[in-house]
Amino acid sequence: MKTQDFFPKLSEIPEDIQVSFPLHQTKYLINGQLHEWRGEVENVYSSIYVNEGDSLINNIGSYPLMDEKTALYALDSAVKAYNNGQGVWPKMTIEERIECFKHFVRLMKDQKKLVVNLLMWEIGKSLKDSEKEFDRTIDYIRDTIEALKDLDRNSSRITIKQNTIAQIKRAPLGTVLCMGPFNYPLNETFTTLIPALIMGNTIIFKPPKLGVLLHSPLLDAFKEAFPQGVVNIVYGEGQKVIAPIMSSGKINVLAFIGSCKVADILKKQHPHPHLLKSVLGLEAKNPAIILADADIETTVKECITGSLSFNGQRCTALKILFVNENIYDEFLQKFTTAVDNLTLALPWSDQVDLTPLPEKNKPIWLSELVKDATDNGAIISNKRGGMINKSSFFPVVLENVNSTMRIYHEEQFGPIVPIVKYRDIKEPLEYVINSPFGQQASIFGKDYNQISELTDTLVNQVCRVNINSQCQRGPDIFPFTGRKDSAEGTLSISDALKVFSIRTMVAFKETEDNKKILKEILNSKSSNFLKTDYIL
Ligand code: G3H
Repeated sequence: MKTQDFFPKLSEIPEDIQVSFPLHQTKYLINGQLHEWRGEVENVYSSIYVNEGDSLINNIGSYPLMDEKTALYALDSAVKAYNNGQGVWPKMTIEERIECFKHFVRLMKDQKKLVVNLLMWEIGKSLKDSEKEFDRTIDYIRDTIEALKDLDRNSSRITIKQNTIAQIKRAPLGTVLCMGPFNYPLNETFTTLIPALIMGNTIIFKPPKLGVLLHSPLLDAFKEAFPQGVVNIVYGEGQKVIAPIMSSGKINVLAFIGSCKVADILKKQHPHPHLLKSVLGLEAKNPAIILADADIETTVKECITGSLSFNGQRCTALKILFVNENIYDEFLQKFTTAVDNLTLALPWSDQVDLTPLPEKNKPIWLSELVKDATDNGAIISNKRGGMINKSSFFPVVLENVNSTMRIYHEEQFGPIVPIVKYRDIKEPLEYVINSPFGQQASIFGKDYNQISELTDTLVNQVCRVNINSQCQRGPDIFPFTGRKDSAEGTLSISDALKVFSIRTMVAFKETEDNKKILKEILNSKSSNFLKTDYIL
């Protein structure tokens, strides 16, 4: 199809999908105020072009390219709002914080339509998946509130041991810097921001390099719902805005989801390594191990969604398939056919499996990976594999892949599916053991003995083994983490509350005088920390 035919004319875009572009986001939230940015800006380009006669247009707006001074203003505001734990927010009761969050959810829900549309335009996520990302985020906030109530109820008791009366709770850590990835710019930013905030920390967050404008409809909600300086947003180049923030030594927690390289740079910028706690979601190369007796239909279906949902741009995607030689030909034929039957379309189309890619030059980079593989003996097994149409790249199924190729080792984070034929199960196991990553793996098969044996090896290499199903993060109540270069810290709705707080206790020697003091504190409700009330 010709490029001009693939991308729509303005008149062909459904009205409720249109946003009044260009959207120049000039407002930014620091210290509880929405300021007007008058400095340099970064243009935002969509992966979806609009066909205007002879030209294809994709500039949809801009956002502030902040300078060091503004970044440090954001830092100072967050640090001041925390005020060494003396700020309004860290000292607030949990009930009061929960009320702020409920207010925020009400305001956020009003912005759903615009946020979903911007998700489609900015990162090319399908309408269904964009709605899912928004709804999943709202659910995440609600579930976090419930998890916090639970946590608080469990720590509402007084413990008496060896003549010591104590109450043990969780207290905030300080100022948290949150940075999410472009593939889940809303959800994954919020899966650290929300728990960090609700535990009483103050926040600076920087939207990812793609998926920036979609945060703008939420600025008012942040301003309205939370006290001054508790949530601050910075935009711009990491080197200009994040380096000075990290180098100040005033960040207590770095919550970052992205590449190992950037995480290492950020951590090294902090002058006090022991003061900084890191919560990181990093790279992965999750394998599927397909055994000789695997059910072909289920395996093909799970491997298609596992490797190609959102064009393979998921940290949890299946990024290499190891297929037993006895099932290889049948699997390859069915998998390849299924891939070629996928529909690459605009995000709002009724029938859409794949969409244009948001990263500039990604199709070219993917083509280079494919070329390296074919130069070393791999074969493109699907007819449509590698067809490029500006920002679109039709998935490539690569057969005959081996360890001499870059695609065997590198995380493609895009629509290439490398397939390795194996004879001995040791081959995929060696792959997992030697991999620098350790997030998840999938096993497809029926023989319970073999599955048990493999599982017992894999659970000591990765953090989630999926049986006859693709790798994935959800449901969000389950722990999400990784070994080696894949993660630091564990996220789940309840784990995240712990990651962004520290166990802290108040202890009394068990004397009559101290018992009297404690009773008076509890009865008068004079402390926000020492209390035995249950939040209902
Ligand atoms: O990109 C990494 C995400 O956490 C993956 O989440 O498995 O729910 O798509 P998901």
